[in-house]
Amino acid sequence: MRGPTLPARIFFRVIRGIKSTFGVDSYLKNEDRRILEQVIFPYFLNENDFQNVLFVGCHWYTKGYNKWFEEKKKNYWTIEIHPSRKRYGAKQHIIDGMQNICCHFSPSSLDLIMCNGVFGWGLDARSDVEQAFRESFVCLRDGGVLVVGWDDIDERRPFPFDRCRSLQKFQPFVFPPLARSRYVTDTPYAHTYDFFVKRGTPTVGG
Ligand SMILES: C[S@@+](CC[C@H](N)C(=O)[O-])C[C@H]1O[C@@H](n2cnc3c(N)ncnc32)[C@H](O)[C@@H]1O
Repeated sequence: MRGPTLPARIFFRVIRGIKSTFGVDSYLKNEDRRILEQVIFPYFLNENDFQNVLFVGCHWYTKGYNKWFEEKKKNYWTIEIHPSRKRYGAKQHIIDGMQNICCHFSPSSLDLIMCNGVFGWGLDARSDVEQAFRESFVCLRDGGVLVVGWDDIDERRPFPFDRCRSLQKFQPFVFPPLARSRYVTDTPYAHTYDFFVKRGTPTVGG
């Protein structure tokens, strides 16, 4: 699938720059964004149980999300591996890979981790992917949720997603607005949202 031509990319970048000068954020318009922005975000924004939030991977089209979460008084953090993308990050931004989140967050301190479009878009090496989800499990509280959005096409699937061992520690989370724990969007790249919940091991006699 061919993307926009170079002149078109430059044109849109200039437009975004002008909009940004006037404090107007830009967004991507497609079906997987509609689900993310109009179905997934509103649920978590309105649920008081999800206060401590980490969003992984920042780009020009995610900058506007910062305001949505910050204005709702969430303790909202972003993490992005490329230092230059700090400009798209939240007020509380970390420059690092998701595989190192245990260096930045205490165990059981997060309510929600959203990792959209990162698996297969830089988070590719098997060991990094396993570590990223293993550390997510550690940093989430009992009942905390991990959302992973990924493209189910060969070019963007470093290895079969369902074979990711560290995700097996989680249980599927039936996301109430969609009434399922996996939702495949109607996109040419089959962008898929998977919802996981951390359920601690019950203590003996508990
Ligand atoms: C396709 S963009 C997705 C941006 C955003 N998360 C979204 O909802 O679309 C992928 C971003 O993830 C970043 N990224 C790749 N590997 C990463 C990692 N291991 N940890 C954190 N960010 C990473 C890339 O630098 C890039 O900015």
